[in-house]
Formats: sequence, C-alpha cells, structure tokens
Amino acid sequence: MRISVIGCGYLGAVHAACMAKLGHEVVGIDVDPRKVASLEAGEAPFYEPGLPELLAETKATGRLTFSTDMEAAAGAQVHFLCVGTPQVHGEFRADLSYVDSAFEALRPFLAEGDVVAGKSTVPVGTAENLAARLEGSGATLVWNPEFLREGFAVKDTLHPDRLVYGLPTDDEGVPTAAGDAAKAALDEVYATPLADRTPLVVTDYATAQLVKVAANSFLATKISFINAMAELCEATGADVTRLADAIGYDARIGRRFLNAGLGFGGGCLPKDIRAFMARAGELGVSDALTFLAEVDSINMRRRVRMVDLAREVCHGSIVGRKVAVLGAAFKPDSDDVRDSPALSVAAQMQLQGAHVTLTDPQAVANAQAKWPDMKFAHSALEAAADADVVLLATEWQEYRDLDPDELGAVVAHKRILDGRNVLDPVRWRAAGWTYRALGRP
Ligand code: UDX
Repeated sequence: MRISVIGCGYLGAVHAACMAKLGHEVVGIDVDPRKVASLEAGEAPFYEPGLPELLAETKATGRLTFSTDMEAAAGAQVHFLCVGTPQVHGEFRADLSYVDSAFEALRPFLAEGDVVAGKSTVPVGTAENLAARLEGSGATLVWNPEFLREGFAVKDTLHPDRLVYGLPTDDEGVPTAAGDAAKAALDEVYATPLADRTPLVVTDYATAQLVKVAANSFLATKISFINAMAELCEATGADVTRLADAIGYDARIGRRFLNAGLGFGGGCLPKDIRAFMARAGELGVSDALTFLAEVDSINMRRRVRMVDLAREVCHGSIVGRKVAVLGAAFKPDSDDVRDSPALSVAAQMQLQGAHVTLTDPQAVANAQAKWPDMKFAHSALEAAADADVVLLATEWQEYRDLDPDELGAVVAHKRILDGRNVLDPVRWRAAGWTYRALGRP
C-alpha cells in the first residue's frame, strides 16, 4: 500500500519505518527540514534503540522516503496523523495547533476513498471535529491510537499488545459503509504479520480516543499508587520494593509499573493526565477525574522529597555541596528530557545552591539545551569526582552496574541516593556508603 505519515517525531518516524518494514511504500512528512534531512539520510534524529538499523534496512529497499512537502502525501491511500499535542504553556489543556495545521495542509491532497488515521493523543471530541471537516472530500477519518513506549518504540509498533480502530458509526453505533471500507484499508496496512496475532478492538471515535488517555491515566495512577505507599514506607521503616513484589504476585495487580522512585515524566503521561482533566472539565464531568490531580501531586512530591533527602544526608544543607546526578533522560534508553524527573531534581538542587554535575549516556545534549548553565560530565566516574553526594536519577543499565568500590575511590563522601530503587543497599553499605532511597529504610 502507499502510506503517508504526517509528523516524524518519536511516534511518526518509528511508525513510518515500521510500515516500510511491513512492505508498504511510505513517505514521512515533517515541517522541520533538519529532521527530514536526517531521516532521508537514514539517520535517526533522536536516540531510539533499533531505529537506526530499521531505517538503514528500510531506506535500502527504496520504499521509505521523507519530505517537507505535503504534496508528497498525494496518491497515498492511508495517511497517518502523528503530530504532537503538547501541553499549553501555563494550562492543563493540550495544544491542538499541530493537529490542525497538519490536517489543513493535508486536506487539499486527499482523494476519494483515502483514509486519514489519527494516531496523536488528543482530547476526546477531536476526531469528530476532524471528520466533520472531511465531509464532501470522499476521504474517511479513523482513530487508531498508538501505545508505543520510548525505548521500545520499534518493538511496540511491530508487536503491539492490541490494535484499536475508532470508526465512523451511524446513530445505532454501527460502522457506516465508509467505516467498513476504512477498516478494510487498516486491515491491509496491518496485515501479516501483525493482524493475525494481535487483538483488535473495533469501536467508535469517542471510545478509541478515550482508550489512549484511559490507558495512560491507569499507568500513571499505578506509579503514583506505589509512590504513595513509598511515603507510608518512609514513615514506618518499611521497604516499598518488597511491598511491590508482594502485592505484584497477585495476578489481578501485577508487578509491572510498580517501581517506586522519582516517578513518571516524559512527553506523554504528565501532559496526558492534565489534558484529560482539562477535557473532563469542558465536558462537565471534572469530578470523575479529580483523582488524577492527586496522582499528579503525589508524582511531583517525589521530586521535592529527593531534594530533602539530599539535604538530610548532607547534614541539613546542600548549599555549596557537590552533587553528581546520574541520568537526565526521563527514563533509560531514551534521550528525551521532556518533564524529566532527573533533570527537574538536578535543576532544583542547583537553584538551591548545590554545585550539580549531570551526566547521561544519551541525553546530555538535550539537557544542555534546557539548562545551559549546568555542568555536564561524560561519565558517572567523571561526574562523581569529589562529590559530596551521588544521585542515581535515571536507571540506565550502566548505572545499575556501577561498582561501589570504583565509585567510592573518586568521591569526597560516600553518600548515594537511589532515586529509582535499583541498587542493592546491602552491597553499597558493605562498601562503606551511606545508602538512601525513596520508600526504603
Ligand atoms: C508511555 C506509555 O507507557 C505508552 O503506552 C504511551 O504510548 C506513551 O506514554 P513512555 O512515556 O515512553 O510511554 O514511558 P513509560 O515507559 O510508560 O514510562 C513513563 C514514566 O514512568 C518514566 O518516567 C518512568 O521512569 C516512570 N515509571 C515507569 C516509574 O516511575 N515507575 C514504573 O514502575 C514505571
């Protein structure tokens, strides 16, 4: 099939390459000429494991091209909308200006029978609005949310847990004839090897849009739940990691997403739960989501608590203390620093008078763009030189594997704060370190 992918960020670039991998002829379109030039040269414009290899492989087939010109979308049968919906500055709601401008730019190039498949995370009601704007064009809108995680984006796209199609429906909720035709087109897009082994949920627009924000809200709630338990553990001397293991054995609960620590960040969970609350308010059902405000504040409290913990181990003040922060990305295997707990804690410590040195295997350039005054190091050992305290803020494997003796030889004081509960306290204490963590005795 001929496919266009509008927006080549974390979502679109990976989606375009994966669709080419499935055998389709794909054009990725983005307004950013640097991003397009990089992708067209077969280079990933951001760090994502497996993407460089996939780009090399699919570019070599000739089936994958990139362009800044929307006209390149003409002739494609399915157009995936993959642009971002960031949080409006100073407000909770999502900024839909990229969705609007991409959609308007695409509209003149649509032909009878084309399918526009929305993948961006949007406030419920957006699809209905876009569909109305397609009336008379002969093209059909479907909502086909994406659930990929950064760091696993290629795997999640090629082997998704489920596919969701939100189709246009009649008054009885039955897909229209155009909806059935659009479903057939998406089935063809995701045909072997995806469709035969992936659960498929076919539904209406509203449900398909809600699925995405509901899933992200649930994940955020799960993380904040365990972080709230970490506060209880801190008050009682209990260990949140053992607590999570024990409740996680209950199959109804499950151990995944019960890792207590600095909490969630990134370009999705924080802004998605806020935009969801804003939308619920517009719909007159804000009471239904007041719990998400609590989820958000539990999450933000962890960052404050970490700065307090640093102060505690430094006998009451971090002013003038040297702090090595290991990790800037919002999670390992990513160079993304959007709403990163690691970067936010580092910045808070710096603002409160500490001398912070930050390091990260992939995210230093992005962190530097946000905090040009911060000091950066190339490695954990370099960052930790003469440090009064070391904070493990993002659980990259190389930080999990740190040798307490090797690190102990370069620091001024052996004090480690485990912001992600990934180190073995027994081992670090045996090597002479003061070990402190969120939710552990
Ligand atoms: C998330 C969703 O998982 C994905 O399905 C959706 O499409 C986009 O948003 P992503 O933002 O890439 O994906 O990261 P995710 O792996 O979900 O982690 C989000 C944040 O939660 C990270 O900051 C991570 O460190 C934190 N986290 C995750 C925890 O603090 N504890 C956990 O147990 C799990």
